[in-house]
Amino acid sequence: MLFFSLAILTISSLAFAYEPSPLQDFCVADSKPSARVNGLACKDPKMVEANDFFFSGLHMAGNTSNAVGSSIKPVNAAQIPGLNTLGVAMVRLDFAPWGINPPHTHPRASEILTVLEGTLEVGFVTSNPENRLITKVLNKGDVFVFPVGLVHFQRNVGNCNAVAIAAFSSQNPGLMGVASAVFGSNPPISSDVLSKAFQVDKKIVEQLQWKF
Ligand SMILES: *[C@@H]1O[C@H](CO)[C@@H](O)[C@H](O)[C@H]1NC(C)=O
Repeated sequence: MLFFSLAILTISSLAFAYEPSPLQDFCVADSKPSARVNGLACKDPKMVEANDFFFSGLHMAGNTSNAVGSSIKPVNAAQIPGLNTLGVAMVRLDFAPWGINPPHTHPRASEILTVLEGTLEVGFVTSNPENRLITKVLNKGDVFVFPVGLVHFQRNVGNCNAVAIAAFSSQNPGLMGVASAVFGSNPPISSDVLSKAFQVDKKIVEQLQWKF
């Protein structure tokens, strides 16, 4: 009986580990939902039009004049209401020479990235206790996968701009920057916690908190 219950638990947790499969052709997100649901409420299918499945502008380079030298243009359920319930999304990434996309995770999606221009060093780190860095240099046309939830980054290792397109296995992958989550939370995590966690002086922690 215990075994049976455990088996049922395992099966049901598997069923809920990823976004549920659609039960209809589409569920175009309603911009004025009256109910809160897991995802977005559906628009009346009779009111759905081509533009609900459309986005324009990914040909435009992002502005990389910032501290990290990169920019991200998301195309998820917020930009294309027709993506709601379909379990996919994408981004355009632009990198200035030697720009980086800082270490971050997507809590709800694996990512598959392809380089359109330039040369990117990419990497992700496996979970404890190995914390192995798996890294590679990618050129134009190369494709790399970042498994769901793992901390990863990209760096332009060339003197030209770099451009990449990445696709996600979620309509809303989520983005948690390691530095911004740890040092830039609102309200801040106690510097005592961070100074013990990172084994550094509180002054260094406060400096990092000030930056983020
Ligand atoms: C890019 O961003 C920087 C910093 O925010 C700004 O000063 C600059 O005007 C922007 N450039 C363009 C072309 O929008």
